Amino acid sequence: MSPTASPAGPPATHDYSAPLRVWHWGNALLLAGQLMTILFIKVIVKPKALVPEFQAAAAQHGGPISKEQGQSIAHLMSERMWDWHIGIGLALAAFWAYWLVMQLTAPAEKRFGARLLAAARYYRLAPPAERPEARHTLLAKLTYLAFYLFISVMVLTGLALTWADDVAWLHGIEHTVKEIHNVTMYLLIAFVLTHLAGVVWSELTQDHGLISRMVGGETRKGS
Ligand code: HEM
Ligand code: HEM
Repeated sequence: MSPTASPAGPPATHDYSAPLRVWHWGNALLLAGQLMTILFIKVIVKPKALVPEFQAAAAQHGGPISKEQGQSIAHLMSERMWDWHIGIGLALAAFWAYWLVMQLTAPAEKRFGARLLAAARYYRLAPPAERPEARHTLLAKLTYLAFYLFISVMVLTGLALTWADDVAWLHGIEHTVKEIHNVTMYLLIAFVLTHLAGVVWSELTQDHGLISRMVGGETRKGS
């Protein structure tokens, strides 16, 4: 976004607060780690599919193992990786709670809802020359709104799955919750890809320094 404002005023993008930046990078790292756990469980290691290989390897080294024994070993491997998924998931849940607290305690104009409304107002009131930029700003904010919804669904369904074995009513809806958790993962991946393409494109074309500002905060005074 350009630093020059129309009378309606574009929402400021040079003021990512320290708490928001800490949240952004911590959350991005955890989300990447969480996607890695799924990549390992479902694509790279796939313990269940290894059972015949366990059996073949055991047959070569002294004695066969039964399919059930192979499955027990596969189960142990899966459990180890799911433990990581749940650990990172709980950290993501803590970051999600931190984001909520940040929204409740931030000055009104810095809250996400206020910044989204400001972008919508800017789009409505922008003179024709500033329309494309206003549209871009609003679209970016709408993708963030989608992200905040997706991460909320992911954290709530993830916590439900974590306690599904211990809480009867959660156990009853476990299958549906798992489906929602699964589908939302693809929406999150779509967000991350769109976001990366969007910020790199903005950085290279119209908003040099955008990524640095998300790392180190405001660097240009009076812009
Ligand atoms: C899993 C990875 C990531 C997630 C989930 C994520 C999420 C988000 C969200 C939700 C926002 C909006 C913050 C707000 O205004 O409330 C944002 C802004 C931003 N992110 Fe990321 N991010 C990720 C990775 C990255 C990476 C790798 C970069 C740098 C290459 C980056 C650069 C930025 C920048 C520059 C902004 C500000 C853009 C603007 O004002 O429109 N993000 N990110
Ligand atoms: C935000 C990124 C996340 C992604 C991409 C993700 C992805 C997945 C996927 C694909 C599954 C497999 C579902 C199936 O088997 O059909 C799963 C299961 C699960 N997730 Fe997540 N998840 C995320 C966050 C969380 C969070 C925040 C928690 C909360 C602690 C969590 C806890 C769980 C649990 C307990 C399971 C079931 C494990 C099992 O079947 O033993 N996830 N997750």
